[in-house]
Amino acid sequence: MALDLFSPAKLGAIALKNRVVMAPLTRNRAGEGGVPQDINVTYYEQRATAGLIITEATPISPMAHGYPALPGIYTDAQIAGWKKVTDAVHAQGGKIVIQLWHVGRISHPSLLPNQAEPVAPSAIKPAGQAFTYEGLQDYVTPRALGIDELPVIVQDYVHATRCAIAAGFDGVEVHAANGYLLDQFLRDGSNHRQDAYGGSVENRARLLLEVVQAVVDTIGADKVGVRISPVNPFNDMKDSQPQQTFNYVAQALNQFDLAYLHAVEGGIHGGGESEPFDFEALRKLFNNGYIANLSYDKAKGNAVIASGHADAVAYGVPFIANPDLVARYAKNAPLNEADSATFYGGNAHGYTDYPFLTA
Ligand code: PHB
Repeated sequence: MALDLFSPAKLGAIALKNRVVMAPLTRNRAGEGGVPQDINVTYYEQRATAGLIITEATPISPMAHGYPALPGIYTDAQIAGWKKVTDAVHAQGGKIVIQLWHVGRISHPSLLPNQAEPVAPSAIKPAGQAFTYEGLQDYVTPRALGIDELPVIVQDYVHATRCAIAAGFDGVEVHAANGYLLDQFLRDGSNHRQDAYGGSVENRARLLLEVVQAVVDTIGADKVGVRISPVNPFNDMKDSQPQQTFNYVAQALNQFDLAYLHAVEGGIHGGGESEPFDFEALRKLFNNGYIANLSYDKAKGNAVIASGHADAVAYGVPFIANPDLVARYAKNAPLNEADSATFYGGNAHGYTDYPFLTA
């Protein structure tokens, strides 16, 4: 029989009971000090029937923050908070990896220690405004990271990975997508460096590959995924040759024997008008598991798995509104509609109060 969304799968060391993956979703509801709260435990526990949960993007250090009320994965209190999440998901028979995040230039001094300037590959201010505790504020020109600072950032990923292991996660996903730090290095619109980390695609991918190597050495390659978004213009991103850049990235990642590559196959936040890109070609270059994301529904998800393009499909907005998305897909039941007014920040409303199927 052909494979579909309900077939079990193995992504590296991670065994999935189905191929319906919960995409990483920023929800801005962590507690003081970036510590996951009981409400966050409930939210993830409710969604544990997913084949795999990828947590919301989670800062790896104080300098990695770029939005209010994010959780972190670098303090003992955060580890303890996340441990309650992983225990609850595991008790329901679910699997959960944490997405490791550094926002780079997509931040604001008011969100950083001692009002620090955000850091980036190059001192290029992104168009747009930061979400801060004081409302929207223009992005500032970031400070270009010195070459001697990059090993410190790699170590921050190692520390966060150790924290993720202590918190009981099944693996980690390195966030190299959507215009945040590692993506800022990858794409030439935001990387104008003239050292070993800028210029050629080999140089622009160097930091990502160093991070992945260090994370792999810490937790094991079969528990590591990487997320990319080759043509997502969100966060003022562009690359002059995305196919060439990301084909190189996919092939270079083969050296690690990772659990999976996760691709955002277009533009997010209304940036759907991204330029053409051959995701089939990209996928064929990568030897291991592939998670496809963006605007899939049940039918498209089944089709993309049956065709062999993807091993699993990540659903974002449908999982916000449908904690039991897997059951609804299995029964062809109607879906709850998501309320975008409660996506970012707030309380239990629009977070843990979406109804489950009753019958
Ligand atoms: C967002 O907060 O809008 C956001 C965060 C992380 C992403 C993408 C979007 O990767």
